[in-house]
Amino acid sequence: MAASRLAGRAKAALPLAARLCRQADALAADGRTDAAERVYRAALAADPTLAGAHNNHGNVLRALGRPDAAAAAYRAALTCGLELALVHYNLAAVLRQVGRADDAAAAYRRALVMQPDYAEAWNNQANLLRDGERLRDAAVGYRRALAVRPDWTDGHDNFATALYLLHEGGEGEEAARLARAWRRDHPDNPMARHIGSAIIGDSAEERAPDAYVRQTFDLFAAEFDSKLAELGYRAPELLAEAVAASGPPPNGDLAVLDAGCGTGLCAAALRPYARRLSGVDLSGGMLAQARARALYDALDEEELVAYLTARPAAFDLIVAADVLCYFGELSGAFAAARAALRPGGRLVFSVERLAEADAAAPYQVATHGRYAHREDYARAALAAAGLSVTAITPDTLRFESGEPVIGLVMVAVRP
Ligand SMILES: C[S@@+](CC[C@H](N)C(=O)[O-])C[C@H]1O[C@@H](n2cnc3c(N)ncnc32)[C@H](O)[C@@H]1O
Repeated sequence: MAASRLAGRAKAALPLAARLCRQADALAADGRTDAAERVYRAALAADPTLAGAHNNHGNVLRALGRPDAAAAAYRAALTCGLELALVHYNLAAVLRQVGRADDAAAAYRRALVMQPDYAEAWNNQANLLRDGERLRDAAVGYRRALAVRPDWTDGHDNFATALYLLHEGGEGEEAARLARAWRRDHPDNPMARHIGSAIIGDSAEERAPDAYVRQTFDLFAAEFDSKLAELGYRAPELLAEAVAASGPPPNGDLAVLDAGCGTGLCAAALRPYARRLSGVDLSGGMLAQARARALYDALDEEELVAYLTARPAAFDLIVAADVLCYFGELSGAFAAARAALRPGGRLVFSVERLAEADAAAPYQVATHGRYAHREDYARAALAAAGLSVTAITPDTLRFESGEPVIGLVMVAVRP
C-alpha cells in the first residue's frame, strides 16, 4: 500500500486502533493471551503502523508458542520505526527458538550496540553461544552481564555452568582463570565463592555455604523433578529399598525425618512408615514443591544440623537422599543425627563415592559444587559419632553426561 494512502487510513482509524490496543494490553496483562492476540490483530488491521502494538503482538504470539509469527511481528515493529534495543532483543529470542542462530546473534549484536548495559541481552547472547559450544565466548558474555547486574542469581548460575562445561571440555586452566576473576569481582557472592573455589581447586570449605545451597535450589526448584528424572535419578528409590531391608515392614508408627527433603521425592515411600513425617530443607522454593504433595505433617525451612541439634531423641528414622553431597566434613552432621535419633533409630543416607585409589583426601568437592566421600572416611566418621554401620551398598545414583554417578547407600543405627 502507498505510504500516503496508508497514512490517511491510519489517521482516520487511529481512535479505534488506539482503543483496541489498550484493550489488548489489558487482556495480555490479565494473562488472557488468546483474546489479546485477536484484539492486537484487530488493532493492527485498523492501523498497521502502530509499532508498539506490533511489538506487544509479538510478545503474545511468543507466549502462544508461535515464534515464527512473533518474529514477523517484531520485524514489523522495527519497520514501523520502533528502533529499540528491546525489540531486537525480543526478535533475537524467537529467532534462537526457531533455530536461526546466526540471525539471532545478529539481532543480539544490534541490541547491544544500541544498549551496551543490557544485562539480559549479554546473558541471552551468551546462552546462544553456549548452545553453539562457544564456551569461552559465552563465559565472557555472562561476565559482561554480571558487570551490569552483579546481584543477578541467574547470571551467576549461568556463569557457573559455563565454567563447569569449559572445565569438563578440557579447558581447566581457562576455567580457573575466569573463576579467579569471578571470585575477585564478586567476593560476597556465594556461587562465585563456592563454585569458583571448586573450579580453581583451592576450596577450604567444610561444606557448601547455606546461602549457596539456598540460592541454587531456589532457582532449581520448579524444574527439579523433571531434570532429575532426565538424569535417571534413583537416590529416593535406593534409600526406600534400604529402609525396607533394614527394619520392620511399614506400620505407620515411626517418627520419620526427611532431611534435606527438597521437593519431597522421598515422601511417598516414607509415608507408610510414619506416624509423623517431617521434612527440613534450606530452600523455601524446594519446600513449596514439597508442601504441594500434602504428604508431610511438618515442613521446616532450616539448616539441617541446627534442626537436628535442636531435637534430641526425636526420630526413629532419618533419611537423607543426596543431601550429604553438600557436606564435605561429615562428623558434625553425623553427631547431630545421632543426638536426634532414639536408641535403635536408623540413619539412612547416600553419598557420592570418591574412589580411594583416586584421592588422598577423605572428601573432595567437584567443579559442579558437590562433594564426594571415601567409604573408609564415611565409616570412620559414623563410628566416631557413635553410630553403627549395618549396610553399605554401592549403586548408581544418577547419570551425568551419560556416565553413571556411583554412590554409597548407607544404613547406620544408634545403639
Ligand atoms: C539434591 S537435593 C535432594 C532432595 C531430596 N532429598 C531428593 O532426594 O529429591 C538436595 C537438597 O538438600 C538441601 N540441603 C543441602 N544442604 C542442606 C543443609 N545444610 N540443610 C538443609 N538442607 C540442605 C537442598 O536445599 C536440596 O533441597
